[in-house]
Amino acid sequence: MRRSGIREVFDLASTIPGAIHLEMGEPSFETPAHIRRAAADAADRGFTKYTPNAGIPELREALARKVSARNGIDASPDQIVVTPGGVAALYGTLLALCDPGDEVLISDPAWPNYRMIAALQHLDVRRFPLDPADGMCPRADLIEERMGERSKVLVLNSPGNPTGAVTSASTLRELVDLAVTYGLWIVSDEVYDELVFDGEVAPSAGAHDSHGCVVTVFSFSKTYAMTGWRVGYAVAPPEIAALLTKAQEPITACVNGPAQMGALAALEGPQDCVAEMRAAYRERRDRVVELLTAGGVPHVEPQGAFYVWVDVSSSGLGGVEFARRLLEDFGVAVAPGSAFGSCGEAFVRVSLAAAPGDLYEGVGRLLRAMTEWRCPP
Ligand SMILES: Cc1ncc(COP(=O)(O)O)c(C=O)c1O
Repeated sequence: MRRSGIREVFDLASTIPGAIHLEMGEPSFETPAHIRRAAADAADRGFTKYTPNAGIPELREALARKVSARNGIDASPDQIVVTPGGVAALYGTLLALCDPGDEVLISDPAWPNYRMIAALQHLDVRRFPLDPADGMCPRADLIEERMGERSKVLVLNSPGNPTGAVTSASTLRELVDLAVTYGLWIVSDEVYDELVFDGEVAPSAGAHDSHGCVVTVFSFSKTYAMTGWRVGYAVAPPEIAALLTKAQEPITACVNGPAQMGALAALEGPQDCVAEMRAAYRERRDRVVELLTAGGVPHVEPQGAFYVWVDVSSSGLGGVEFARRLLEDFGVAVAPGSAFGSCGEAFVRVSLAAAPGDLYEGVGRLLRAMTEWRCPP
């Protein structure tokens, strides 16, 4: 398994004192105080033992209510499995659905961990392109063209990493229809569901699933600035939820109890923290888009998540070389686009999750680098 190109840049940047980190999807916010307090209280009360593999019942019940109210997914608590982060839900779901040699359809570009999971589980990967003409959203005909004999799972991700694209409800409906036609499973990664810049929540593939072929993955990491807590969850048809629960026993057994109590407080407590973070990311998005546009640097304007996909081809450098020189000469770390797939070779990804001071300074330096390196027309 190849490492993630994002982590490679992070490791290199960590050796450069004072480097500005715009390569990671790590929120600049602290976890809200009422969530931290709920977890600390749970630990103080002695809530420190194993929990059921699929998560504590109160949390699964609250999650069933949340996905129904906010995501339009009609699910009972036995369809919810609480996992150590969204990534473990993705890993466990693919393990539950696939046999070695099966094919997984993954967009290009896409978050590197999908192909890493596929490599560890001996699954073959087929990539389908995301086209700027479609707003970097998946298109059923392009997926259909790339399907093979053993295609088993279509991985979707909206709001998308690295592009920030939000797939519309009508496109999701088409993709669910495609999955039904070909007997595919959809694994819909919606860990950025509440980080959208228009409205409050992104449309969900699971809202169109009348055939029980969609597994949706969510997380507390980004919505509540809880990356280190490791709490995510899958919403799946009951038989898949049962398999995922069984698979969790020999891998992680369960998510730690205090973290689950923190997650419960996140769901049941005030939601203004989410609205505030969403507004802050929107403000950063607007400012960065304005800076890039003024500097004549092509980019995809994100509709959600917290990344900007920047085309650096006019520098005359590929994304990997651009990222290396930006770090060495200007002290700014960005993720090279090729980490997300071959379609990303001329791109870098800038994370809006960094604190605004670092973000604007880093983007300013990126623009200076572009001007310095720009090829003469
Ligand atoms: C697209 C996507 N999916 C899933 C995850 C997993 O997040 P976590 O495991 O922290 O829930 C991330 C994290 O960066 C992500 O960007």
